[in-house]
Amino acid sequence: MKDLLRLRTSLSEEIELLLNEQIKTEAYSSAVYLSMASFCNRNGFDNSAGYLEKQSNEERGHMLKIFKYINDLGGRAISPEVTNVPQEFESFRGVFELALQQEIKVTSQLNRLADQCMKMKDYTTFEFIQWFLKEQIEEEYVARRILELFDVIGEEGTGRWQIDRNIPKVSYGEDAGEE
Ligand code: FEO
Repeated sequence: MKDLLRLRTSLSEEIELLLNEQIKTEAYSSAVYLSMASFCNRNGFDNSAGYLEKQSNEERGHMLKIFKYINDLGGRAISPEVTNVPQEFESFRGVFELALQQEIKVTSQLNRLADQCMKMKDYTTFEFIQWFLKEQIEEEYVARRILELFDVIGEEGTGRWQIDRNIPKVSYGEDAGEE
């Protein structure tokens, strides 16, 4: 039965496994962004909470995109189990340091996936994940710019309040960095 099912997909078991791992990572990112949103909300950083909720939804969107890809190709997309989601963070700044770290981890994982696609000559999946790699340029950029706000504005006095106001305005593109 297993072999018959396998015949219905052009995905190799190895690539399917890696794609399912990526689903799990995106789901984890979505869950962490959501817990970050809750932390920011509890600490009075409402704008950041809104931004992080939006990020959480985007990550869920990424997860679903891969989920659909696997199933569209006749593979077996697995609804991921997400565990060990941190609920507390060291500080407001700590939230965004962790966000950048998580995005860098996602980029390396996608690069490993791309590498494996080339090795296995799976050009369809290689092409599919280009969108994610491009998306990572934006996500890393935004995460870095947000961290810069902490240094540029400074956290003293009304600093954190100002940082919070500016976080949702950080974007990637021609208007990047403008208020
Ligand atoms: Fe979908 Fe930011 O990784």
